Amino acid sequence: MCGIVGYVGKKKASPILINGLLKLEYRGYDSAGIATIENGNIFCIKNKGRVKELQNSKDIDKLNSTIGISHTRWATHGKPSSANAHPHLDCHKNFAVVHNGIIENYIELKNFLINAGYSFSSETDTEVIPNLIDYYYSIDKESGPDKFVNAVHKAILDLKGSYAIAVLSKYEPDTIIVARKDSPLVIGINNDEKFIASDIPAILDYTNNIFILDDGDLVKITQNNLTFYNKNLEKIDKKSKIITWDAKSSDKGNFEHYMLKEIYEQPTAIRETIGTRIVPNKKCDFSDINISKSYLSEISRIYIVACGTAMHAGVCVKPIFEKLTNIPVEVDIASEFRYREPLIDSHTLIICISQSGETADTIAALKNAKANGSKTIAISNVIGSSITREADYTLYTHAGPEIAVASTKAYTSQITLLTLLAIHFAEVLDLPKTEIIDSLKNELLEIPSKANIILENVDAIKDFAKKICKETDIFFIGRGLDYAAAMEASLKLKEISYIHSDSYQSGELKHGPIALIEEDVTVIGIITDRRLLDKSTSNLQEVISRGAKTLIITNQDVDKKAFPYIYNIPKIHPFLSPILSIIPLQLLAYYVAKEKGLDVDKPRNLAKSVTVE
Ligand code: AGP
Repeated sequence: MCGIVGYVGKKKASPILINGLLKLEYRGYDSAGIATIENGNIFCIKNKGRVKELQNSKDIDKLNSTIGISHTRWATHGKPSSANAHPHLDCHKNFAVVHNGIIENYIELKNFLINAGYSFSSETDTEVIPNLIDYYYSIDKESGPDKFVNAVHKAILDLKGSYAIAVLSKYEPDTIIVARKDSPLVIGINNDEKFIASDIPAILDYTNNIFILDDGDLVKITQNNLTFYNKNLEKIDKKSKIITWDAKSSDKGNFEHYMLKEIYEQPTAIRETIGTRIVPNKKCDFSDINISKSYLSEISRIYIVACGTAMHAGVCVKPIFEKLTNIPVEVDIASEFRYREPLIDSHTLIICISQSGETADTIAALKNAKANGSKTIAISNVIGSSITREADYTLYTHAGPEIAVASTKAYTSQITLLTLLAIHFAEVLDLPKTEIIDSLKNELLEIPSKANIILENVDAIKDFAKKICKETDIFFIGRGLDYAAAMEASLKLKEISYIHSDSYQSGELKHGPIALIEEDVTVIGIITDRRLLDKSTSNLQEVISRGAKTLIITNQDVDKKAFPYIYNIPKIHPFLSPILSIIPLQLLAYYVAKEKGLDVDKPRNLAKSVTVE
């Protein structure tokens, strides 16, 4: 996911632009660039590599302008290189553009522009945008005040795909124009300064008064004015929001990595996500969505749709929804769901989970579902994110900004919120589930303190991380919700340590995977369901007898003589066990990656939010 930062105001732009890009590094990128207007001309510096290299480049001191745009690129079309880095200028160097998204019809547009006499210097889809803007500007014979606005508007009407763009023009050196469709963009205001960013943390150091743009919005920005237009270029009013979390909460604090900080923030994130929804001796408070008994009574199936860790959170709550609501639940990977023509109608309810709220596959799946008559609920951690604009209903986890690419506190907060939603549905339906509902409510309230017990006992995890950090294959096994947690534990390990890892249902080992077990292979078992204790421990004994070394994460009485490494977690309702069992395994993944000296917060090839297909 690319990063965009823009500024127009009274200060030198380049330090603000660079600082903003540094705040967006967590999104993953391969190159960075900046453009300002110096003495009436566009001046651009861009390179493959890190923002620091841009900051230390010899030309940065030539940037004295108080207006500029900047970008971190995560390559989609064209390899990481200086030529492909943003900002991109038209071949006449009249306009500069930074872009987040994909222009699906760029080849057609490129051919049109080449025939119109334009030339190109990159392999990117983005480069068609500044050239299109220059084309429309050049053929517009009016010299009205909005020639720049009109040229950008005409250009984006030709674009198919997704975009968030910021545009500079040498013709209007005090103006930045921005527009968005399917990729996020915000504007921050602070007296006579204006800030632009693809994500709020980039500008929180300067302002918390933020406009969150909607699809189709186009905005003309000068130091003292904002003019909002809709997709028909009609002027519109927009209201800003005051962002309550501060820049500090998106800094690392005393932690070496964002990921470790966010693992340790889980008790607070869970407590904040519960918030005031659990009301003693009353039904849960879900006044932020108004789902009626008559509607829910007609629902024949719930689909939970997401990607990666968010999908794993869905797997964790499937049995909870089914037990409490008696409604069948299917959990689907969004990139599959959107193409497999699922059976959707007004009697299905789609719950889409997305921490960032910007995951292209999940948003597309939600749109498909709406188009087929289903109501949709978005579960997101980012206020005003794209998915929240598409969904019929939105519920927010309140985990605070999750910066590390590897999702941790969002996952446990998603399970928490979805458990509460399942309780809410049962209460709306007036189903006779009082005993289990009361038990779950009480146990949810105990989770933060139980999570802290784990977070205060990490030495054994650190030691085991040292033992396995040189392994090439590591397996996670479990039954039922322990398998759901094993799926997430495996993803955590592989995405930050680059060790091949897999998760298996314990009962499935003997149907093939046990062929992989040989001397010294590492198998990590999760056992929190007392009903399955004997079966699960015998599965682990099977792998030990074939030479495997094991670690067991459990809150049951496991035979200490039979298993050398046992990590005990606090007891909890089996439905809520993945919220606790994952914490030592998040820490294990973290310490293995740290032992290997890897970039824990920004793992190779990954982005914090996958806004492209
Ligand atoms: C999780 O650690 C990964 N970073 C990834 O699987 C992530 O969960 C997935 O891309 C979904 O992101 P979202 O929740 O922002 O939609």
